[in-house]
Amino acid sequence: MAIATWDDRFLLGFPDLDRDHRILFDLINQLHDAYANGRGDERLDVVFSVLGDYVNTHFRREEDLLRTCQYPRLVPHLAAHAVFSADVDDMFRRYRQNGNEKLVIELLAMLTNWWHFHVLEDDADYGHYIRDKTSVSG
Ligand SMILES: [Fe+2]
Ligand SMILES: [Fe+2]
Repeated sequence: MAIATWDDRFLLGFPDLDRDHRILFDLINQLHDAYANGRGDERLDVVFSVLGDYVNTHFRREEDLLRTCQYPRLVPHLAAHAVFSADVDDMFRRYRQNGNEKLVIELLAMLTNWWHFHVLEDDADYGHYIRDKTSVSG
């Protein structure tokens, strides 16, 4: 069973970024399902591959938009991305050394936390900012 259900309220209104977020959301659910079936370890190759794309492509896409829109909270947003990237790198290094079920649990906790506190809060914040700015300037 999925850890969470998709809700269109998660959408920010930027199709490329929303698609990336949806991929991340689905990835978390797939990892959770695999873990619940005792097969979490088998998903880790795919999970790290998708996370690599997320970190390299999504973050760049998002950061470009935030710079273009002169988002005032850009610096802490970049810092959060950098910390998450480093955490993914660290987990990947540990996975290559010794993939195991404990790593799956840690990864699920990290991704779920990221989803709630970064995607649904920090990313939603720039969504509000850009929409407000666009509606003010017409
Ligand atoms: Fe994002
Ligand atoms: Fe972000």
